[in-house]
Amino acid sequence: MSRIAYVNGRYLRFRDAKIHIEDRGYQFSDAVYEVCEVRGGRLIDARRHLARLKRSLDELRIPLPMSPRALGVMLRELAARNRIGYGLVYLQISRGVARRDLAFPPGPVPPAVVATARRLNSTRNEALAANGIAVVSVPDNRWGRVDIKSVGLLPNVLARQAAIDRGAREAWFVDKDGAVTEGASSNAWIVTAAGTLVTRHADHGILRGITRAVVLDVLKAQGLTVAERPFTLAEAYAAREAFITSATQTVMPVVAIDGYSIGDGKPGPVATALRREFHRFAETG
Ligand code: PDD
Repeated sequence: MSRIAYVNGRYLRFRDAKIHIEDRGYQFSDAVYEVCEVRGGRLIDARRHLARLKRSLDELRIPLPMSPRALGVMLRELAARNRIGYGLVYLQISRGVARRDLAFPPGPVPPAVVATARRLNSTRNEALAANGIAVVSVPDNRWGRVDIKSVGLLPNVLARQAAIDRGAREAWFVDKDGAVTEGASSNAWIVTAAGTLVTRHADHGILRGITRAVVLDVLKAQGLTVAERPFTLAEAYAAREAFITSATQTVMPVVAIDGYSIGDGKPGPVATALRREFHRFAETG
């Protein structure tokens, strides 16, 4: 079966799915995106992902080309056409096509909308979660508005590759004050020796993860102690547990940071329970 993509109002076979060479997303990363988990053929937390997409577009003054509802309908249709049981949908909206010039195009230009869907391997993900993953730290050299989910991901690309080169699966960015901000494509969490869950507060220095927000709901419902504040690498090395959150990995235990074992070097009970509980609190639609 050939994969189907959505490009500006049409569902096309991959080989026919093309964008213009003067698309501003292609030339300037003048575009934003979302990634949503698909489970049982249904979208997880689509409403919150589309609300964040609208916020990213608003921050960049790119008009919303379709209502969030219509975007949700299109993404569900795309998942169905690609027969995705478990996987993800990817949605990207750029400022559109215009002669190359840094300034916004003078006239009205329709934003370009592209979406793809693909399967994920749940057996492989569960095996990863059962063992936990290693992360390495890298300096956070990104721009000051990473709360906007822009496709400008070069520092993230280099960070992820640095992690892989060092035998790890994710990189944690560390800011100039020595605090962990977030992962290359995930939010970062620790559980302190006293049992407090710590994740950086959602300012302009991290992406306000949807999975992070759902996990905060789970923690509140269970009466666990949470602190949204910066934490240092030293605190992370000494943590009882660590984990990352993202739409495609939900809650993934971290068992080593920069080669130091976290806790007893195995996935911890808090991360394991959160992973198990996650979909009871996420929205399915
Ligand atoms: N990444 N931080 C960054 C830098 C991210 O790219 C992501 C998501 C997150 C977690 O956000 P959420 O829980 O809403 O997925 C945090 C997606 C999955 C990606 O780029 O594939």
